[in-house]
Amino acid sequence: MKIGLFDSGIGGTTILEAIKKVLPNEEYKYLADSQNCPYGEKPYSELKTIVKNNVEVLKNWGAKIIVIACNTATVKCIAFLRQQYPELQFVGTEPAIKLATDTNAKNILVMATPNTINSTHLQSLIKENQKPHQAIQLLACPGLADLIEHNYPQNNTTPILDYLEKLFQKVTTTPEIIVLGCTHYPLIKPEIQSFFKTAKLIDDSANVARQVEELVKNPKNLL
Ligand code: DGL
Repeated sequence: MKIGLFDSGIGGTTILEAIKKVLPNEEYKYLADSQNCPYGEKPYSELKTIVKNNVEVLKNWGAKIIVIACNTATVKCIAFLRQQYPELQFVGTEPAIKLATDTNAKNILVMATPNTINSTHLQSLIKENQKPHQAIQLLACPGLADLIEHNYPQNNTTPILDYLEKLFQKVTTTPEIIVLGCTHYPLIKPEIQSFFKTAKLIDDSANVARQVEELVKNPKNLL
């Protein structure tokens, strides 16, 4: 099965790795759209054009399943893409709010791009899943994906650590769980963890992999 993925750069490779673990024998094409990085602060009108161009490339290659390996592109554009390409199956990546709220954690921190933090998609996820005893702090991280894109692999982590130090001054309560709501952030797990040593860092990659696996194993779902 031909499976296409895209992200604004290297972030979505974290999703690709998770999918390959459960489906090692499929054919993959990964589009790292680094020339348009970052997506996280771009207006919707611009994002629509960008994601459509990416989908055209993957569709022309023969992809039947397209994985949006990017939270920002998913929360802003997945509905638009499904409507534009009813012949394709889209699997999106979203902040792992359900996974976080299905635990006993009282304090949850969500890190994501400004576009994702301000999206109605994230608001709905929280509304559907938050338990009464849970506090969820939303932390927009403008420019962080771009910083990771240009500093990875990290021989020099100083710019990232400096950024995080300033950013985390806004965190009022020590989180038990940190939701990495951008696919670039798992690439800097050790740096994030160094500020919150006891927090559990989670993301949506296993969930995305499960959804793709289901589609591949039930190809009748594919048009
Ligand atoms: N990696 C993407 C995400 O999951 C996009 C980051 C960006 O380009 O701003 O949100």
